[in-house]
Amino acid sequence: MTTQSSEPEAAVRTGLEFPLDFVWGAATAAYQIEGAVAVDGRTPSIWDTFSHSPGRVLGGDTGDVAVDHYHRYRDDVALMSSLGLSAYRFSVAWPRVQPTGTGPVSERGLDFYRRLVDELLAAGIEPWPTLYHWDLPQELENRGGWPARETAYRFVEYAGAVHSAIGDRIRNWTTVNEPWCAAFAGYASGEHAPGRNDPAAALRAAHHLLLAHGLASAEIRTQRPDNRVGLAVNIYPVNAASDAEADLDAARRIDGLQNRLFLDPLMGRGYPADVIADVRAISDFGHVHDDDLSLIGARPDMLGVNYYSPFTVSGRSGGTQQLAPSSPVVTASPWVGSEHVRFLDTGRPVTSMGWEIEPPGLLQVLYRLRDDCPGLPLYVTENGAAFDDEFDGELDGELDGQVDGTVDGTVHDPQRVAYLDAHLRACHDAIADGVPLRGYFAWSLLDNFEWAWGYSKRFGLVYVDFASQRRIPKESARWYARVIRRGGLPAVTR
Ligand code: FCB
Repeated sequence: MTTQSSEPEAAVRTGLEFPLDFVWGAATAAYQIEGAVAVDGRTPSIWDTFSHSPGRVLGGDTGDVAVDHYHRYRDDVALMSSLGLSAYRFSVAWPRVQPTGTGPVSERGLDFYRRLVDELLAAGIEPWPTLYHWDLPQELENRGGWPARETAYRFVEYAGAVHSAIGDRIRNWTTVNEPWCAAFAGYASGEHAPGRNDPAAALRAAHHLLLAHGLASAEIRTQRPDNRVGLAVNIYPVNAASDAEADLDAARRIDGLQNRLFLDPLMGRGYPADVIADVRAISDFGHVHDDDLSLIGARPDMLGVNYYSPFTVSGRSGGTQQLAPSSPVVTASPWVGSEHVRFLDTGRPVTSMGWEIEPPGLLQVLYRLRDDCPGLPLYVTENGAAFDDEFDGELDGELDGQVDGTVDGTVHDPQRVAYLDAHLRACHDAIADGVPLRGYFAWSLLDNFEWAWGYSKRFGLVYVDFASQRRIPKESARWYARVIRRGGLPAVTR
């Protein structure tokens, strides 16, 4: 394991150095960390409604308090600073900024983000906001949600208001996070908010999320042409279980719905014909209006990619193949028109989400994007792993949460260190092979509310004791801080 801080500088120099301007970040999202759901005029989002509906979230957990970042953001920025982060990816809560989803903007809501940005800039950390990370104002869901075209227009109003408030101090903007999840987990499988089971609505939602991205990008560029705007997509390598025709076709279908349904229109190629054919029983794509594809296909300035795991799929029924362990996206067939496809367990090690650990999958995704979107600057906007971390100290007494401070007790998370190390090595290989990869954001800075899994899954570099809200940097946080300080990974191989 390569985690000793006493390694000589020479070893570092001969190690895997990253470009000097490589962005070293960590990511979070508003509903997962902020809490303060009824403070300063914020109204409920679809996630408030969903998490308060019995049986939707494991253990009945909600984001009401989350990790109280709304009140503790100064301490959290201090933590980021002690990690040495060069950028922090966070999301803006729409119902905080525009409580009814239309009309007046709440200055009190915007003020929170102004304060956060002040604090980040003062600490030398680049703010990297995402405008939509799944917390649609409930009011807009009541009017039809993402399956309604109107929501895309409401999004532009909101995005424009946020950008005009803080766009003078922030260069890099992400419009939408993982439109696949928002559309298909939200409206087809119903495992995420708003919990609908309507595949045709999910296809409309996917289009309107892309349209929202296109419209908001145009608005941001009009306001400040020097700012950069993109979105974050969750691209999966989709591997066929064998060369059998049925397996290859299963891989084509899932790749189509998971990846190409988003990448093709974003790269100006329109919707893939085979996917349109796969879903023709439920949609004629009549929701796509004339100018939509040119708006969506206006080239982004950069592309964020979230990577956790690959899929291996089969189109054959029966047999002895092991099915993949349950995970929200894999079990409920949100892949419309592909309900017969089975997701297989390849036997690779998994995280506590049941997601396979496969660092070469990240390389596969990065090569694909290099070839598919030539010259487009790429950022890994999320990558990380949940494990069953435990704090082995006493929570009484004073704890100094700084990475370099003294903490009485620690959180040993060697599996996360190994996960991050291996995925960063994949990033390094990608750069060496000409992938224009410019940065990496670990998911997540803090343990937080992991959507349908509530607080049962810990993804943080920093452990949070949810009862006391104490923050305790895990060993992975110290490891990541050293990587950032060195500007790369040590040469030592495992
Ligand atoms: C991604 C989400 C993020 C987090 C990670 C584990 O799909 O964007 O909010 O939950 O998964």
